[in-house]
Amino acid sequence: KLRVLSGMQPSGQLTLGNYIGALQNYVKLQHSHECYFMVVDLHAVTVPQDPAALKEQTEAVAALYLAAGIDPKQATVFLQSTVTAHAELGWLMTTLTYMGELERMTQFKDKSAGKESVGAGLFTYPSLMAADILLYNADLVPVGDDQKQHLELTRDLAQRFNGRYGETFTIPEPYIPEVGARIMSLDDASRKMSKSNPNAGSYIAMLDAPDVIRKKISRAVTDSGREVKFDPQNKPEVSNLISIYSQCAGKSISEIEAQYEGQGYGPFKKDLAEAVVAVLEPIQRRYAEIRGSGELYEVLRQGKEKAEVQANRVLRQVKEKMGFVVL
Ligand code: TYM
Repeated sequence: KLRVLSGMQPSGQLTLGNYIGALQNYVKLQHSHECYFMVVDLHAVTVPQDPAALKEQTEAVAALYLAAGIDPKQATVFLQSTVTAHAELGWLMTTLTYMGELERMTQFKDKSAGKESVGAGLFTYPSLMAADILLYNADLVPVGDDQKQHLELTRDLAQRFNGRYGETFTIPEPYIPEVGARIMSLDDASRKMSKSNPNAGSYIAMLDAPDVIRKKISRAVTDSGREVKFDPQNKPEVSNLISIYSQCAGKSISEIEAQYEGQGYGPFKKDLAEAVVAVLEPIQRRYAEIRGSGELYEVLRQGKEKAEVQANRVLRQVKEKMGFVVL
């Protein structure tokens, strides 16, 4: 079986972008692949986090994984910080990474732009992400479009290590959906939908109540004109909504265009809202059950144990190859 690894930061509420770009593919891949899905809490602290909020959000992301349909009997679900090999290989990967490579990362440029003080962890973040992936010799990494560059760096680091110390790491491939890899903000289709956007109307949180979802979609910015047509160049706002619809309703883009031909945006937006609610409402129901049941910590404890076996084996090989005394 091919191996899959991926993760999400507990740095705020998960959005519909996280779900469409990544989480729904985790759920699909678990049946055919050996999967590791983690909550990357060590990555979240690359920007300041309130401790109580971090804990709550970490639990929320793990519970949303399960609520979305990840079955802990099929896939290993764990918290990054509980498997200490991540921090350890993260350091070793940092020593293998060039400053120039990190300086070229667009996510770093975006997140550090205009800030007075930028944490060093935000800079070395991609080296830790490479460690996450390489520790499991993952073949496939399901992510949205914004993680492509980090995946490229991971591949470069794996090749560099293998070249220097001998074949050790599998070179991972990104697994990026064709439609929905980059869901944009509802208020501005030039920016990606993000949980860190201060305007809550710009994103749909996975835990937004159905009426909130309906309101946000009815207020979503649309392009001038009235044609429901997929044309990202000239109609970026409507094209984004069509992508969301396509993913939530399981309809192709051309089916959607045909369905709303000559009808304007009104009926389209109404149906879109119901399609999104139909996906998120059952997840929200299961989420409430999971948070209420107290089973989460047990799942995460078992996930930690399974992940550790795999991660420690690779870490040991790496240390031996690099010349550390391994006792
Ligand atoms: P994060 O937490 O920002 O996002 C989690 C996943 O959601 C995808 N995503 C989106 N997809 C489509 N449209 C959007 N608007 C959108 N916003 C987010 C992201 O591409 C990602 O797949 N660096 C990673 C976390 C990470 C990781 C890893 C991922 C750490 N180690 C190892 C894979 C493997 C991140 O910040 O994702």
